[in-house]
Amino acid sequence: MDAAQPELAVALQHAIGRLERSLPQLRAARERGVLPHVTEASRWKLISPLASEEQALTGLPWTGGFVAGQLWLAFRMSGDEKLAAEAAGVTELLAPRAAQPNTHDLGFLFWPSAVLGHLVTGDPRYRELALRAAHSLAKRVLPSAVIQVIGALNDPEQRGRTIVDTLPNLMLLWWAEREGFARAGEVARSHVEASLPASIRDDASTFHAVRFADDGAVLERGTVNGLAPESTWARGQAWTIHGLVSAYRATGDREILAAAEQTARFFCDRLPPELIPPWDFDAAPGAPTDSSAAAIVASALLDLGGEWRDRALELLGALVTNCLNRGDEDGLLLHGCYRYTVSEGIDCATVWGDFFLLDALVRAVEPASRLDPLANGG
Ligand code: GLY
Repeated sequence: MDAAQPELAVALQHAIGRLERSLPQLRAARERGVLPHVTEASRWKLISPLASEEQALTGLPWTGGFVAGQLWLAFRMSGDEKLAAEAAGVTELLAPRAAQPNTHDLGFLFWPSAVLGHLVTGDPRYRELALRAAHSLAKRVLPSAVIQVIGALNDPEQRGRTIVDTLPNLMLLWWAEREGFARAGEVARSHVEASLPASIRDDASTFHAVRFADDGAVLERGTVNGLAPESTWARGQAWTIHGLVSAYRATGDREILAAAEQTARFFCDRLPPELIPPWDFDAAPGAPTDSSAAAIVASALLDLGGEWRDRALELLGALVTNCLNRGDEDGLLLHGCYRYTVSEGIDCATVWGDFFLLDALVRAVEPASRLDPLANGG
């Protein structure tokens, strides 16, 4: 344990305790086929991971993997078999999605659930499930070398559309490459190389969305979740940083490292004094915050070491001080923002914010217990 961070150790125990206490509620929901997603009036909104989700950018639920991921992390830390049993139940509920190559979110659905499940239990069925999802995701690559976000690849309305949120989904493909599925690594590399130059501005901020023609030409740049086409949606910047750090770890490519550091510098330099970002960096002062963006970045920066580890620990300390739920509301990390533009999940808890906070706390406090999809091979 890092002796300089005793409050993080306390927060980690607090987080695991909350998750253990929430198990009966979680199990009851999961047995009805629904999972926590974001809070509404301080209570989890429960959604089916198998039905459409109107408010999702992609029209499909993308968050269920983070429910399983939290449970696997907490099981790893506490050894409480009830946590593992629930993680297994959630992963099983998600499983039909692995064979459906209809969204880039296959990474979010299956690296925290099946890949972490395989790492912590060694059960080969989780490896097979994750590889099935990786094969589905790899099918979404276009002649332009980018991964299309959603929709049939021949749908003229969706053809060539990308968002920076795909970058952290590539973790599933980097892992699959290490497991012997070489094409997964080719697809992940091609997406990074083809999409990044068009997504990052000169000041290292990011466009949320870019559309490509089949020959790779940029057709349009803008946003779906952000304030404006030229603004910087905080979670999009966070997803970019997370995706680039894992791409660097998977490839060793120094240009990707430079892009990761530049985008991280933009994020950290734009933070207000309390270190919790507004939902969009160009939103008016006093706008709702998105704590989940800070948790995603804290988790990513711990992998870069040096000054970036210091930044990550500062972010974590600020999240624990300002956003850790110590009350009766649902969720672990308060003051997130799901989709401001459609008034969904403003000042809420989110299952992905909870996951990335827990992941970062584990790595800051007990690095040897970390579950790392990129730990082996490569
Ligand atoms: N597409 C994932 C998100 O809304 O952050």
